[in-house]
Amino acid sequence: MQNLILVTGGAGFIGSNFVLRWMKATKQPVVNLDKLTYAGNLQNLAGIAGNERHIFIKEDINNADAIKRVFAEHRPIAVLHFAAESHVDRSIHGPADFIETNINGTFTLLEEVRAYWSGLNSDEQKRFRFLHVSTDEVYGSLNPGDAAFTEERKYSPNSPYSASKAASDHLVRAYLHTYGLPTLITNCSNNYGAYQFPEKLIPLMILNAIDGKRLPVYGDGKNVRDWLYVEDHCDALALVLERGRVGETYNIGGWNERTNLEVVNAVCSILDELRPTSRPHVDLIEFVKDRPGHDRRYAIDATKIANELGWKPKETFESGIRKTVEWYLANEEWVKGVITGEYHNWVSLQYVNR
Ligand code: NAD
Ligand code: DAU
Repeated sequence: MQNLILVTGGAGFIGSNFVLRWMKATKQPVVNLDKLTYAGNLQNLAGIAGNERHIFIKEDINNADAIKRVFAEHRPIAVLHFAAESHVDRSIHGPADFIETNINGTFTLLEEVRAYWSGLNSDEQKRFRFLHVSTDEVYGSLNPGDAAFTEERKYSPNSPYSASKAASDHLVRAYLHTYGLPTLITNCSNNYGAYQFPEKLIPLMILNAIDGKRLPVYGDGKNVRDWLYVEDHCDALALVLERGRVGETYNIGGWNERTNLEVVNAVCSILDELRPTSRPHVDLIEFVKDRPGHDRRYAIDATKIANELGWKPKETFESGIRKTVEWYLANEEWVKGVITGEYHNWVSLQYVNR
């Protein structure tokens, strides 16, 4: 098929939002390659079930032979690499999967991309893009009052997750400089929105609050994150793919710094309005033992992507968080599907006796 793009990790939170938006906005086919770990969910893609332009392949990015066959058969014009282990707390309990997927997997994928790209004619080579989707966590932690992260910020990752993402960013950079592979890197702040697995702060708090369960806030609740509505991130990625300068890094962020406590309070007050209970939902907040090595503050300076590509987020935090709470309330079946035995095991490991 013409103009086909390959997405890795397209059954996860951001990847599935990207695929759904891409299918709606373009006529281009998508091969969606995903291992379907606990975080991958075909229900996220139910809206495009049966659409012939979406080809789903259950596969591990570490399987070089399989990736080779996918490139030979589908001949993508671009790769968007989302696939990763993405949860910091899981990386603290068990870093091995993070090394395996985020570092070794990215390396395996890059090797297969390089082999495929080397065999293209020069026009095809010029047109080809490898877009690596990364995180602001590679830059480390800010103090209150420090300037937000620009693309020039030195890497200083603090968790096994962020270290593995930093390593993958460096590999991508090396393939650009050494082999001339036309790569782009994006480093984005915290996403939220539909289809986010409820191990992450916002969906965990929404679902716990709906169920009348405690809301476990780590430490003093004053850690700051810079929140971006997932659809804004997806639009930024499509723009970087289309018009980003090869070899560049683009920081993507929402200009929406909030303490964790502010985020949880916002969720609670929306639920007080939409699902009132006898006591306000904030009464469920409990301060629990802090995350080891917990980064204090992230903030993205998204000036470069605004100036070069004209991107800025459409949602404010207030509009995005309301849409998100409404989505979780309206999608009980999806929620039931992700609250599995594996999820209960994770919740016990992470929160019981904390
Ligand atoms: P996610 O955990 O929701 O989804 C990850 C997807 O990758 C899942 O569908 C999973 O099945 C798949 N996957 C995992 N290992 C794989 C493997 N070995 N082979 C093939 N597929 C595999 O993650 P997310 O939150 O959607 O994040 C997507 C990407 O964006 C990640 O690279 C992450 O580092 C980055 N990112 C996330 C955020 C955020 O706030 N969630 C912010 C910035 C950057
Ligand atoms: O900054 C981008 C990163 O954002 C992405 O690269 C990661 O993939 C994504 O998971 C996210 O990382 P965080 O660690 O910031 O997200 P998380 O939702 O796990 O936590 C957000 C904040 O909330 C963080 O300060 C820890 C805190 N927290 C989290 C949970 C799950 C709590 O206080 N209680 C909780 O139960």
